[in-house]
Amino acid sequence: ASTLGAAAAGSNRYFGTAVPTGKLGDSTYATVLDREFNMITPENEMKWDTVEPSRGSFNFGPADSIVNHAAAHGQRMRGHTLVWHSQLPSWVSSIGDANTLRSVMNNHITQEMTHYKGKIYAWDVVNEAFADNGSGQHRSSVFQNLLGNGFIEEAFRTARSVDPSAKLCYNDYSIENWSDAKTQGVYSMVKDFKSRGVPIDCVGFQSHFGSGGAPSSFRTTLSNFAALGVDVQITELDIAQASATAYGDAVQSCLDVARCTGITVWGIRDSDSWRTGENPLLFDNSGNKKAAYGTVLNALNNS
Ligand code: G3I
Repeated sequence: ASTLGAAAAGSNRYFGTAVPTGKLGDSTYATVLDREFNMITPENEMKWDTVEPSRGSFNFGPADSIVNHAAAHGQRMRGHTLVWHSQLPSWVSSIGDANTLRSVMNNHITQEMTHYKGKIYAWDVVNEAFADNGSGQHRSSVFQNLLGNGFIEEAFRTARSVDPSAKLCYNDYSIENWSDAKTQGVYSMVKDFKSRGVPIDCVGFQSHFGSGGAPSSFRTTLSNFAALGVDVQITELDIAQASATAYGDAVQSCLDVARCTGITVWGIRDSDSWRTGENPLLFDNSGNKKAAYGTVLNALNNS
């Protein structure tokens, strides 16, 4: 196949990208988007600060534009994200009691998932809940501090009850290297959820890599998580300087794991990236394919 999406579809996978509403009207951008990608993650538009800027007041317009674009172009959607400590409005982070926060969290999940019911392939139900300090424990957040460790389980149970046909994912960064404490912490949580019947279907590995690309254990990590009985996905791939070898290897790690169901890059052109000056994506600022595009397409076609 001659495009990323079609090549990934050859092994029943998808190839996606992050899309901000504001770029849908850029014709160079939209041409590449609709030619190459068959899965879309809204870059910011489904986050709490956009969707529920004040309590009970919901703003779905920006994300609706993306969902409508996807529907018109045969693309599926990943929902990103329901519960996250960042891009969280201050009216939520300043809540002081557990009962209020519990009902606010569950209402947010319920309203957002209901609005998009049937239109989302997979939701990042909880994003980035684990700490970077080597403890393997949850990070401090208003959710953790008021509701305790059980907030993640509660969010997943609520999510399942709202849209039983959507896949429910836990999504995080720096969980690609198998021996890291953070990876082990997330692995233990998923193992515990599966053993107790807490609804979880997938784990997203953001995969924001330095110029050396993925750690050598990445395939092992993906395969060990998959062995717990969940799908795994690369959800936000970008690699500083976009070495063709590093991109090919990262993608191959997913292709080597049967339950790695898809890959999403976090933007299209280098100029679309949140990593200013790192040129970490597959297309240059003019929308031309870079060398890494070739190694990725080859890997997808050969799997
Ligand atoms: O919308 C405002 C605009 O009104 C204002 O003028 C402008 C001035 O700073 O800011 C705009 O908001 C920015 C927003 O992106 C939309 O462009 C925020 O400042 C900026 O912080 C925000 O950055 C996003 C970042 O998440 C926030 O944490 C990036 O676009 C987005 O790519 C990034 O994505 C995250 C994933 O969701 C989770 N994993 C990590 C990943 C990279 O950081």
